[in-house]
Amino acid sequence: MLRLISFRIFLIIIFVNLNIASVLPASKKPVHAKNGMVVSASKIASQVGVDILKQGGNAVDAAVAVGFALAVTYPYAGNIGGGGFMVIHLRNGENTTIDYREKAPLKAFRDMFLDKHGNFDPSLSQQGATSAGVPGSVAGMLYTLNKYGTMKLSQVIQPAIDLAKNGFTLDYNTAESFKEYLKDFEKYPASYKKFTDNGKPYKAGDIFKQPNLAKTLELIKEKGRDGFYKGRIAELLVKEIKSLGGYISTGDLEKYQPVERKPVTGSYRGYEIVSMPPPSSGGIALVELLNILENYHFKNDEWGSSMYIHKLAEAMKYVYADRTIYLGDPDFYPVPEKGLISKEYAKTIFEKIKDYAVPARDISAGKPVKYQESSETTHYSIYDKYGNAVSTTTTLNSAYGSKIVVPGAGFLLNNEMDDFSAKPGVPNQFGLRGSEANSIAPQKRMLSSMTPTIVLKDGRPYIIIGSPGGSTIITVVLQVILNCIDFNMNIRQAIDAPRIHDQWLPDEIYTEKFGVPLDVKENLEKMGYKFGETRSLGLAEGIMIDNKSGEIFGASDPRGSGAAIGY
Ligand code: DON
Repeated sequence: MLRLISFRIFLIIIFVNLNIASVLPASKKPVHAKNGMVVSASKIASQVGVDILKQGGNAVDAAVAVGFALAVTYPYAGNIGGGGFMVIHLRNGENTTIDYREKAPLKAFRDMFLDKHGNFDPSLSQQGATSAGVPGSVAGMLYTLNKYGTMKLSQVIQPAIDLAKNGFTLDYNTAESFKEYLKDFEKYPASYKKFTDNGKPYKAGDIFKQPNLAKTLELIKEKGRDGFYKGRIAELLVKEIKSLGGYISTGDLEKYQPVERKPVTGSYRGYEIVSMPPPSSGGIALVELLNILENYHFKNDEWGSSMYIHKLAEAMKYVYADRTIYLGDPDFYPVPEKGLISKEYAKTIFEKIKDYAVPARDISAGKPVKYQESSETTHYSIYDKYGNAVSTTTTLNSAYGSKIVVPGAGFLLNNEMDDFSAKPGVPNQFGLRGSEANSIAPQKRMLSSMTPTIVLKDGRPYIIIGSPGGSTIITVVLQVILNCIDFNMNIRQAIDAPRIHDQWLPDEIYTEKFGVPLDVKENLEKMGYKFGETRSLGLAEGIMIDNKSGEIFGASDPRGSGAAIGY
């Protein structure tokens, strides 16, 4: 008896002493470093970035090196034939973003993905040459390196060239992933050649060499952006697109320019949020969500409860309804950014949230206050010893994009055109709907959900975070930030923890396997919720910096096989 009592006292002491970070949820410790950290979906690419940091490069040098390396070691989403966004915090306190999102070709037109009956034909927007947008990655990375980097292009691109030329050992997941998409690659001889070993599927342990890609990277090293957007590579790209009935022309490639844009900024419980503006919906949606949720006070033991999920899901529904109506390329459509991210507007949404699930059909885009407005993916996060931070999300859209490898040039083309709203109200591959704001027009950028984000505390980086996951990216990033700020989780726990997602339409919550216990689900069903498919939500790659000690912590999502490497 006495033993039992003392055991109980022992347990009580343990639980009193453990804060939330230690009991919720079971998770390994994050990777720790003193000087710098790179977290990406590929261990080899993370190591490339750390090597650049060790040579004295800054976070931007490392980001460009990792970007090129991912195009070699993680062809699933890493790319030079796609696009992306970079959010940068400089040690001098300045924040900026680089938009190198793909653009619709000059010959694109509004109804290009509708059949003769006016119905949306996803095979045109998601597959083949018509699905490809004008790639932005090379122009964007070179612009950023030139303006904010300290190293020469030849130095940061060399590791990618070496990896492509000499090859690298395939791990199990990468080899299996090539196998999974073999049926798609079979349609394009250059793709089939690249992703098989003379017609045999690759297996774990094989050396994967990409000689054509190595040559393309060499040309970029020699000639800069002209090595990609003009001359041999441009000609090969346009030839392939033409032969497959697509629209990208040499004029499109020559004209492509990245855009440096002012970040979307907001605040959450005293932390500053710096994220990506349109043509990504990510930053605005994230800040709008945080503004709504700031009206609650979350208790530690509320995490994962039905009431917690209810609050998140309702806020998500209103924000995705706004996304559908108001967001698109700001160079083409006046996005009411300030109205959408104002705290007053968020309060009006908070006041609409009931203690039950409001059906999606009763929710529509709100009326943000009018202001004079001026306007399969992968993420990596980098922090350097100087105090610079880079948060980059880059994409080909679907896994391996359009699955088209440009013959002779060795790289995959994106299928980003599916991110446009091909027809008002008709969902794309992520179930996302859109309106006029995101309609197709020549030279327009398709709306994105990518949410590369840096959270600052007292003006210095605290969290560097982002994720792939199509429409779910925004809510993945949101939940990692809430886990850190409201529930005091370390970055590893915050990333490992199960997540949910609600995007207004379809009117259902997505959950992860073993993510929501049965009784919580039952409570939510009583409140009117329906549950959609169970799937893995996102692949977050994050860094957290302890502002007081300067210690750096990194974590790569256990849902993937990336790595956080520090030094
Ligand atoms: O830009 C976007 O929002 C999409 N193209 C992202 C695609 C994505 O995350 C696919 N990965 N799961």
